[in-house]
Amino acid sequence: MNDVQPTLDVAGVPSSAAAAADAQDFAVPAPLEAHGPARIIAMCNQKGGVGKTTTTINLGAALAEYGRRVLLVDFDPQGAASAGLGIPAHELDSTIYTALMDSSVDVRTIIQATSVPGLDLVPANIDLSAAELQLVNEVGREQALTRVLRPIMDDYDVVLVDCQPSLGLLTVNALTAAHGVIVPLETEFFALRGVALLLETIEKVRDRLNPRLRTDGILATMYDGRTLHSREVLQRVQETFGDDVFTTVIGRTIKFPDASVATEPITSYAPSHAGAVAYRRLARELVARGDVA
Ligand SMILES: Nc1ncnc2c1ncn2[C@@H]1O[C@H](COP(=O)(O)OP(=O)(O)O)[C@@H](O)[C@H]1O
Ligand SMILES: [Mg+2]
Repeated sequence: MNDVQPTLDVAGVPSSAAAAADAQDFAVPAPLEAHGPARIIAMCNQKGGVGKTTTTINLGAALAEYGRRVLLVDFDPQGAASAGLGIPAHELDSTIYTALMDSSVDVRTIIQATSVPGLDLVPANIDLSAAELQLVNEVGREQALTRVLRPIMDDYDVVLVDCQPSLGLLTVNALTAAHGVIVPLETEFFALRGVALLLETIEKVRDRLNPRLRTDGILATMYDGRTLHSREVLQRVQETFGDDVFTTVIGRTIKFPDASVATEPITSYAPSHAGAVAYRRLARELVARGDVA
C-alpha cells in the first residue's frame, strides 16, 4: 500500500476537495520489469447501464498506458466492450463463446489487438447468450472461464472481465475465475438497490467455488457534483461501504458515449478530459492498493 491518504477526487467537478485530492494523488506506477501472472478482476453489477463496460474499457486503457499488459474479456452477449473498441464481433466466428464451448480451442487464437498498445480483447457476440443454457449440464460448469483463461495467465498483468447485467451462470463463471471484483455503482437514487444481492452472490461464490475472491472496491460512476442528489447518494454509498469505496469517483460526461461512438477509450479520444484523468487516477489507485501489479 501507498502511504498517501487521498481525499475524494471528483472528476469533472472543479472543487477545493478535488484540488486537495490532486495534491495527494497516487503515485505514477513504476514500470514493470517482467509481466504476469495476471490478476483477474470481474466488473460486476446485475444492473445495466451503471458503467461496467465503460470502466472495463477505460480502466484497461489507462493501465495499458502505465505499461501494464491488459486483456479485456467481453463477457456480455451484447458485445459492448468489443464494439466500443471497434472490434466487429458480430462478424467473427471465433469469440469467447467458441472457447467456452470447445476446450480444444486455444483462447490465444481468439484474442484481438486493439488500437491501444498493450490492450487486447477477447470478443463476444450474441452467440454467448446460448452459453448459459449449454453450460448448465456440463461438469465444472462454473469453471469454464477459468479453464479458458489458464493458458494466458503469464502473458498479462491484469485481465478485466466485463460481465453482463445478470447474476446467472456466466457471471458466476467470471466470479469463479476472478481474484477480485469491482462493482460500478451509478450515483443515482436506486444505486444501492440490488447491491445486497450482488454481495451475497460474491460471498456464495467465495464460500463454494473460489476462496481467494475479494471485493476490490465499489466505484461511484456518473457523478454530477452540481446536483445535491448526486452528492447525497455518494455520501450514502460512502457511509454504507466505507473504505471499500474507491476514492476516485467518475463524473458524468457525454464524452464517454462520444468515445464509444468513436470506438476508442476516452484516454485516447480525449486524453486530457476529466473523464480520462479520472480513469488514469483509478488505475493508479488500484496499483497503489496492490489490486494490480
Ligand atoms: N461517467 C459517465 N458519464 C456519462 N455517461 C456514461 C458514463 N459512464 C458510462 N456512460 C454511458 O452510459 C451508458 C451505459 O454505460 P455502460 O458502461 O455501457 O454500462 P453497463 O456496462 O453497466 O451496462 C453508455 O451509453 C455509456 O457510454
Ligand atoms: Mg456493459
